[in-house]
Amino acid sequence: MIKPHGSDTLNPLYVMDAKERAALAKEAAKLPSLLISSAAAGNAVMLGSGYFNPLKGFMNKADALSTSDKMVTKSGLFFPVPIINVVKDASAIKGAKQIALRDPNVEGNPVLAVQSVEAIEQFSDDDMKFMTEKVFRTLDTEHPGVAAFNSVGKTIVSGPIKVLNFSYFETEFPETFRTAYQIREEMQKLGWNKVVAFQTRNPMHLAHEELCRMAHKAVKADGILIHMLLGKLKKGDIPADVRDAAIRKMAELYFPKNTVLITGYGFDMLYAGPREAVLHALFRQNTGCTHFIVGRDHAGVGSYYGPFDAQTIFHNEVPKGALQIEIFEADHTAWSKKLNKVVMMRDVPDHTKDDFVLLSGTKVRQMLAAGQPLPREFARPEVAEILMKYYQSEAAKGN
Ligand code: ADX
Repeated sequence: MIKPHGSDTLNPLYVMDAKERAALAKEAAKLPSLLISSAAAGNAVMLGSGYFNPLKGFMNKADALSTSDKMVTKSGLFFPVPIINVVKDASAIKGAKQIALRDPNVEGNPVLAVQSVEAIEQFSDDDMKFMTEKVFRTLDTEHPGVAAFNSVGKTIVSGPIKVLNFSYFETEFPETFRTAYQIREEMQKLGWNKVVAFQTRNPMHLAHEELCRMAHKAVKADGILIHMLLGKLKKGDIPADVRDAAIRKMAELYFPKNTVLITGYGFDMLYAGPREAVLHALFRQNTGCTHFIVGRDHAGVGSYYGPFDAQTIFHNEVPKGALQIEIFEADHTAWSKKLNKVVMMRDVPDHTKDDFVLLSGTKVRQMLAAGQPLPREFARPEVAEILMKYYQSEAAKGN
C-alpha cells in the first residue's frame, strides 16, 4: 500500500489504548483549558485520525507563515496549509505546560485533546493578511473561508497533541466517519491496492457518479473511496446527513458491490480552492489511496478561482515528489444530448454548450424546492427524491 505522507507508517495522534485514554481524560479534567475554534477542533480530529500525518500537533508561528507562503515548514516538510490553534485570548492558560482543548461543537464543551504548550505567539494584522492572501488568494471577507480564518483571533498556541475522541463525527455519523487508519485497514481487508479517492461536499449527481467510474476505469483501480466532508459548511450547502443518504442510495443502486467505500472525515470546509485541493490530495495519500480526482472548481466557491486552478497548482507549485498520490485531472463532465451519455467536454470538441444538459446550482435548488423532478440525464431519480424532500422541508420552514 502507498506510504503515508512524510513517514513510513501512519502515526495518528488519537490515544489508542483505552486505559491510557481514560487516564489522560481524568488528568485533563484538572488541567487549565482552552475553548478552541471549530477550525482548530477539526484540525485536532484530523490529526487524531492520521489524516495530517506526519504532524505531531499544532504548528508554531514560523511554520504557519512558512506553510502559507511556500507550502513547506521550517524543517522542510511539505504541507499546503497551516494547521494551527488560534484563539482570541490565551490568558487562561498562561504559564501552563499542558492544557486541555475543549470542543466548541459538542454540548458542555468536553475535552477533545490534550496539548503540550511549546509557544504562545501573536500574529500581527500583516501576518494575518499575508496568510489569508497566500492560502485563499483573496482578502475578500465575503469569501466564507477568509471570514472564518480571520474571525477566531490572532494568538497562536503551538505544540504536540494527544487526541481523546473524534468530536461529534463519531456519534452523528457512525456509519460514515472513518479515520485514515480505519480506511487503510478496510482497504487491506478488501485487497485493494490501487484506489481512486473522490472528495465531495455535495450529493453526487450523474456527472459525479460517471466521473468516478471514468477515473476507476482509466487508472484500472481496485476500488473507489468516496470520501465526504462531514464538518461545517457555508449556508446553502447541503447538510452532511442528507448528502450521505443520497450518496449511499446512489452507490447501492448503481455500483457493483464491493467497488465503492463510502466514508467521511471531520473537518470544516475551507473553500480554499487550489490550496485545499493539495491538502485533500495529501490526506487521501494518508488513507492509502493511490489516485485522487480533481475536477472542475475543486473546493471552490463563487468565482474566486479559475475552473482548473486546483489542477494547475499541482504542476506549477507542488514540488516534484512532494506527494506520492497521483492526480486524476477531470475536465468538466456533463450529459451529451448528441451521444446520450455523460462525457468529459475535452473528449467531445465538436459539441457546443447546447449539446449538454447543464443546470446551475440555483436552478437545481429551485426545481427541487418546487417539487419538480430533475432531468434523468442530470440526476438519478432516487437521489433527486432524497434532495427534493430536504428542499421541501426547508421551504416549509421558510429557509
Ligand atoms: S468540492 O468542494 O468538494 O470539491 P464538489 O462536491 O462539488 O465540491 O466536487 C467534488 C469533486 O467533483 C471535485 O473534484 C470537483 O472538481 C468535481 N466536480 C464536480 N462537478 C464536476 C463537473 N461537472 N465536472 C467535472 N468535475 C466536477
